[in-house]
Amino acid sequence: MLSKSSILAALTFASSALGEFCSTTCTTAEVPTGTPVAGDYDGYLRPQVHFSPPKGFMNDPNGLHRGDDGIWHLYYQYNPTDTVAGNQHWGHATSEDLYTWTNQPIALYPVNASSYIFTGSAVVDENNTSGFFPNQTNGVVAIYTIATYEPIQLQTQGIAYSRDGGYTFTPYDGNPVLDEGSPEFRDPKVIWYEDHWVMVVAFSQEFVMTIYTSKDLKEWTFASNFTRHGLLGEQYECPNLVRIPVDGEPGQYEWMMFVSINPGAPLGGSGSWYTLGDFDGYTFTPHTAEIHIPDWGKDAYAAQFFENTPGEAILINWASNWQYTNAVPTGPKEEFRSAMGQARRISIKEDPRLGPIAASEPYDMSPILGEELASDTFGNGSVVIDFADVYSNALMIEVNVTDLDVVAGSVNFTFLSPISGEYLTGGVLFNGNNDVWLDRSHIKGFEYPLFTGKLSTAQIIEDRFTMQVVFDRAIIETYIQGGLQASTSSFFPEEPLTILSVKAGGYGSGNVTTSVRVHALESTWRPQENSNGIVRGASVGNSTSRYDARQLSGGRFSR
Ligand code: FRU
Repeated sequence: MLSKSSILAALTFASSALGEFCSTTCTTAEVPTGTPVAGDYDGYLRPQVHFSPPKGFMNDPNGLHRGDDGIWHLYYQYNPTDTVAGNQHWGHATSEDLYTWTNQPIALYPVNASSYIFTGSAVVDENNTSGFFPNQTNGVVAIYTIATYEPIQLQTQGIAYSRDGGYTFTPYDGNPVLDEGSPEFRDPKVIWYEDHWVMVVAFSQEFVMTIYTSKDLKEWTFASNFTRHGLLGEQYECPNLVRIPVDGEPGQYEWMMFVSINPGAPLGGSGSWYTLGDFDGYTFTPHTAEIHIPDWGKDAYAAQFFENTPGEAILINWASNWQYTNAVPTGPKEEFRSAMGQARRISIKEDPRLGPIAASEPYDMSPILGEELASDTFGNGSVVIDFADVYSNALMIEVNVTDLDVVAGSVNFTFLSPISGEYLTGGVLFNGNNDVWLDRSHIKGFEYPLFTGKLSTAQIIEDRFTMQVVFDRAIIETYIQGGLQASTSSFFPEEPLTILSVKAGGYGSGNVTTSVRVHALESTWRPQENSNGIVRGASVGNSTSRYDARQLSGGRFSR
């Protein structure tokens, strides 16, 4: 079977045959340097409170970190020259609130014609352990996979440093810093542990997560392997080793190994799992054999946790699936493919049956919370809203069901297009299992055999149920019971969905009370549009320094 990276290679070389050239910077004629790629964020399939690339194809979040000035940095796997995966760079955007993103110039370029920059992470090297930053505390080092295809397929790990807080990078001239002679060795995630750096990286097809340690980010020593645990799928990718705070108990943590698998996830295609355990700086030891699926949707993959967020664990998922990402209709319709999921705060909470698990909650939404469109409380009843005049076409719904003293009834939400008649619907059945579900099969803009229509999970609840729904044009996320379950689903209507109904009832003789609150969400892209409706991204003065093509000339990858 062809691995996905071999498919990427084939796609890539197909595109290089179409006119790519490579001088010192190895970019194509269309890949801008020093200035952000401009994009049209007005299309009706463009999420308004989520990040999506200005143009082209995006997959995994990369290099997530918070700078010393509080700015959030999101880099991402980026093909600026096509709307399918292939010519992989690191795109870049920054934010003050994790919702309003400013597009920045591309941060990392392939350094020669037969290699690409794959997934990796970034750290703030405050104490100059690397020696790259003699007079500063805000130096950033990116650690990433250099995927080479000729003369043979080889994946090694390289580093690049940034002296301007993560805007422009210089590849280290000693790259690669880790070469194990493997064609499938990728996605290094680096964290700081007490007195050394720790990298967890996947030997994808052997199902091994290897841990290495380093004092300076340049020399890495093997520490341990975490092997063939949980669900294998066909490959392990994008590991994260992270400390998760225990909800309500300041200073208490659990260690988590978070793994992405592709293909072969339980719902098909790509998906993730995690397991909780101990970590002593060298070896991860799971508490038990159990693994948990963090998202019951089909569009949450390659999650990465932010670095430099003391006391907090915050992640972003790529909101798509390798089974269909290269075929979704935003490519031909709006010249981009894929969005990131909403930033989520992860904490350990107690599930009534499972015990401690990692709960996902939306990161503080107050910066994007718009007008309250409805607020109602009832036994049996419904709320219906026409929100065609909400420019963002994005909403947040909160449902709280209390005094749930019967095993009967349901809450459903439906988003409908009055023009095409298509609808997206979901909810919960209080049937003992408490099946939570989403049905995107009545949405007509994307017919594809692997684009699963109906998704569901079940959740033990006591006498109270909570559900939060974030709806954003072509992506919907749900958070059940304070995040004990979460889901991410893309959908592609032919017309915007502009009518919402939320219905509760069927509780029989119980005293059940349902309250529903709906808020508009504010578009984060519209205020960035110029008079032609185009978002141009950071002005050159705004991104701290210009990308300089000469910076890359010393960093050629060689074996
Ligand atoms: C995960 C992944 C990574 C790889 C990257 C390439 O989606 O396959 O393993 O580094 O995408 O774009």
